[in-house]
Order: sequence, then C-alpha cells, then structure tokens
Amino acid sequence: MKKTARAHTNIALIKYWGKKNAELRLPLMSSLSMTLDAFYSETSLETGQQNEFYLNNQKQSDQSAQRVFQYLHKLQDSFGLPYDALKVSSINHVPTAAGLASSSSAFAALAASFCAYYDLDVDRKMLSRLARIGSGSASRSIYGGFAIWQKGHDDKSSYAYPLDEKPAMDLHLLAVELDQKPKKLSSTKGMQAAQNSPFFQPWLARNDAELNDMIAAIKNNDFTKLGSLAELNANEMHAINLTAQPEFTYFEPNTIKAIKLVEELRQQGIECYYTIDAGPNVKILTPLKNIKEIKKLFLSEFSNVKIINASFGPGVSILD
Ligand code: ADP
Ligand code: DP6
Repeated sequence: MKKTARAHTNIALIKYWGKKNAELRLPLMSSLSMTLDAFYSETSLETGQQNEFYLNNQKQSDQSAQRVFQYLHKLQDSFGLPYDALKVSSINHVPTAAGLASSSSAFAALAASFCAYYDLDVDRKMLSRLARIGSGSASRSIYGGFAIWQKGHDDKSSYAYPLDEKPAMDLHLLAVELDQKPKKLSSTKGMQAAQNSPFFQPWLARNDAELNDMIAAIKNNDFTKLGSLAELNANEMHAINLTAQPEFTYFEPNTIKAIKLVEELRQQGIECYYTIDAGPNVKILTPLKNIKEIKKLFLSEFSNVKIINASFGPGVSILD
C-alpha cells in the first residue's frame, strides 16, 4: 500500500523562534503565516523491507533520515501502532534547508501521508498537532491562505487554525533565491542558540500585540500595515540572533544588499517589504502592480539570482 500527500510551504509574517518544550515542539510564542502556491513537498509512505528515506530520489542515511524515523516512531507510539518498516519518498519543490521553509511542507506532508497510510480518522486540528511534532512551522501548512499557530500550553492546546484560507488580498511574495545551499545551522539549533539574547524576553512580551496587529491588518486589507509589521518582526528575530551569546546570523552580504534594495524601492514610491527566515534568502511582500519593477532591479543587481513569484497556496491534500 502507498499513500501520497502534498503540502505547501508557509512563510511566517509573525515568526516562531523559540520553544518551551523541544520534545513536543511547544512554542514560546504564537505565529501567523501565509501558505504559498509556488513551493511544496510531496511525500509518499509505503510498506518497506526496512526503514528507508528518499529525498529528491536520493537515499538519505544522515540526520534527516533519523529525524524522519524518530518522528514516525513518535506517531506510531501515540496511536499504539507497531514500528512497521516504512519506505518514505519525498520530493521537495522548494530548496531544502535554505530558509525557504522546506521543513514546513515536509512534515505537514509526512503527517498527512502517515494518517492516510494507517487510515486514521483525524481532523485538521489533530493533523496540525501531529505535523507540529515533526517541525513547528509544519503545523501551519495544514491550511491554505493565512494561518495562525496558537502557542497553547500543552500538546492538546498547541495547534494551528485557518484565519482566511482564500484571502482576497492583493499580496504576492517574491522569493529571492540568492543562495540555494543548505544552511549550516538548522532552524531547530538556531532558535535554541538565540534564546539567551537579552532581547529575547522583551520580544516575547510583544508577541500578543504584534499578532493582534497583524490580524487587524489582514482583516482591514491593509498591505502597508501587514508589510511593515512583517518586516519589523523579522528584524526582531534576526536582532535576537545577533545579540545571542555567542552571536550568529543567517545574513550573508547579499542579504544586506537585498534589504538595501527594498529600502531604495520604497524611497522611489514602490511599496514593498521584506521578511527573512533562517537562511540568507529574502522574501519580498508586494502587491501585483510592483512585481515587474522589483524583479527588474534585482535581476540587474545580482548575477546569479532566481526570483520566484508566489501568492496564496492551498492546505494539505492526499493525492492517492
Ligand atoms: P528550512 O529553512 O528549509 O525549513 P530547516 O532547518 O527548518 O530548513 O529544515 C530543514 C530540514 O528539514 C532538513 O535538513 C531535513 O532534515 C528536513 N526536511 C526537509 N525537507 C524534507 C522532506 N521533504 N522530508 C523530510 N524531511 C525534510
Ligand atoms: C524562522 O519550524 O523549521 O522559519 O520546529 O525546530 O523544526 P523546528 O523549526 P522550524 O522553524 C521555523 C522558523 C522560521 C519562522 C517560522 O516559520 O515561524
């Protein structure tokens, strides 16, 4: 038997960057994201002779395979299932571990294919909790459009729910791929290393207000508010990395150059904002009318850049 699920990546406008329980992936803050149409993972689960994990048709025998099977064992435990040998095959239609949220689509697709394979009767709230245990951000990829992951206080209360799955907002996200190489410091390790920053607690204290302001911006269809708040929130996250002990950053020289270009565009009256995750690549939030100008500038300023235009994508689905 074989079951396949597709999940799209999501980019957080209000970021998750810290855990209070690593085993259950319970976050210290609530987060809000936009699911993207352009990037996704497709994951199949089938009966195997032994546990095997193929990513983009290459057999994996490193940490990423360990992560997949530790996760599947947790799920098997929680449903009282035996440790059946499983072959997992996944294709990422997104660069892996480059700050473009591959783990969000990966673990949402894996959780969904697991439930389909074992024919488990789970609703989307439960599926979100299961995906969360694989990778926190995956909890939000269960839904299309805008989703909120409420931090909750335990396994049961920490899940994502849809805010608006088919938003009418004129919002595009240009993924500026400056560097496709896998990063050296995973999100899991980065958020752990950031927690001793003196600015971590003040940032956390702002979470409720920032989340509510972002929800209001979405409800009021206010792009200026949404973009400026997303940019501020991303900069807060990266400021925490830079002020951790020892300090670190995901920024590369081209990341800074891209930030400056976004600021330059704004000065010229072309409204756009950036957000950056755990990697050097930059995502630009913009209404449709500005895409051409933004692309023109970035293509002329960077020699090896790939720019992908994304907008709202759907939630997780079972393909067969
Ligand atoms: P990203 O910025 O891409 O989300 P993360 O560090 O959060 O980077 O997660 C990357 C990790 O997620 C990879 O190193 C791998 O362990 C796991 N991963 C990525 N894609 C898949 C996939 N399709 N199936 C299973 N695990 C995956
Ligand atoms: C910067 O969900 O990849 O993209 O739970 O340890 O797997 P783990 O972390 P992950 O972290 C995502 C961090 C982020 C912000 C976000 O997506 O909210």
